[in-house]
Amino acid sequence: MIRLGMIGCGTMAGSFLSGLRELEPRVKVTALCDIDPKKLASAASSAAPGARTDTDYRRLLGACDAVVIALPHDLHHAVAKECLAAGLHVLLEKPLANTEAQCLDLIRAADASGRVLAIGYVMRHDPLWVRMGQYIRERTFGDVFQVSIWTEQFTDLSRGAWLGDARRLGGGQLFSHGCHYIDLLLLWLGRPIDGTHTGTNRGTPWMAMEGTSNVAMRFEGDLLGYHFGTWGARGSKLKYAVHTHCTEGLLELDHAAGTITLHRDASGGDLPALKAALANGATVQGPHATIVYQTPPTGKPTNAEVIDLVDAIEQGRPPGTTAREALQSLRVIWRLYDAEQRRVVADLRGLGLDEFTDRPIVGSAGQVF
Ligand SMILES: NC(=O)c1ccc[n+]([C@@H]2O[C@H](COP(=O)([O-])OP(=O)(O)OC[C@H]3O[C@@H](n4cnc5c(N)ncnc54)[C@H](O)[C@@H]3O)[C@@H](O)[C@H]2O)c1
Repeated sequence: MIRLGMIGCGTMAGSFLSGLRELEPRVKVTALCDIDPKKLASAASSAAPGARTDTDYRRLLGACDAVVIALPHDLHHAVAKECLAAGLHVLLEKPLANTEAQCLDLIRAADASGRVLAIGYVMRHDPLWVRMGQYIRERTFGDVFQVSIWTEQFTDLSRGAWLGDARRLGGGQLFSHGCHYIDLLLLWLGRPIDGTHTGTNRGTPWMAMEGTSNVAMRFEGDLLGYHFGTWGARGSKLKYAVHTHCTEGLLELDHAAGTITLHRDASGGDLPALKAALANGATVQGPHATIVYQTPPTGKPTNAEVIDLVDAIEQGRPPGTTAREALQSLRVIWRLYDAEQRRVVADLRGLGLDEFTDRPIVGSAGQVF
């Protein structure tokens, strides 16, 4: 049994805790920490009765084999480092840390400790998004040439005042939430060549940096990736969606519906992958649209993340998202922010881990945080 501690009992921790009982007896939540006693008590009573609770995580380290860290971003580096040094395995919520120096320090600390350091890019554990990645990489519906990802949310300071503070958040919407989708674009499309970011905090005045973000990137092989993310949506049609244009049709991922639909003007089931999907019960929506994938009703992505951590611990293998990979997505974001500031196209080549810079965070209006 892995004794799991939860450091931070806020929004994201709630998402983890609501499913973790299903993993007993392989994983048991034995410790909970939050500086806010009310949140601590509420997490303990609703999700982990019997777990030790404390407002100081240091007093709980002996009660765990592994911890999930779901804290404001400026705390990620110090807390994760201390947990690794105490011999614990760590699942650290994204983003890895707020500066490149901190990220590299954590990577070295994890290497030296021999413990697993997994990063919480939860979309990598969501079967719907995993399937889209498979279709792209396996060229199931032909060669991909454009992936567009939209995330439309309303996120204000009711989630925590630290969200509006760029020094605590580490950047804006792109750094905090868009890092998921930059990570996926790297995973799906390979090596980036160049790109641009434009952001605004119009519509989200509570954000010090951008609350709405647009990224356009070019990858090796002339593949294109686009990401639009906003925390200012007062309404939404697309919610979370991906449109992947391939040479045999458009694949539309609808996160809320849990579906991937193939849109294809050439009708008929002549395409081998479509034939196979139809044989497996794919739902025909019309002459030009077929639902080729539907998320299974069971399985919480956060549970899959924890299972991946436990498998990595038990099998001595790297986790699903390593800190090195997570750093690459942040390096792309820092280069995009930097180029936006200088009003140039960002050179995204050569993201190797040999570089070491500790850049300040520069906002889209030129302010240095
Ligand atoms: N993977 C996702 O889709 C996703 C979604 C939301 C948040 N997150 C990530 O989860 C992490 C937490 O975000 P959140 O939205 O849950 O924030 P939150 O503000 O809701 O929760 C953070 C919690 O940390 C507590 N805290 C602050 N300082 C502390 C300290 N020194 N010791 C112990 N507890 C302390 C706060 O009281 C709060 O309860 C961030 O890394 C965020 O990016 C991920």
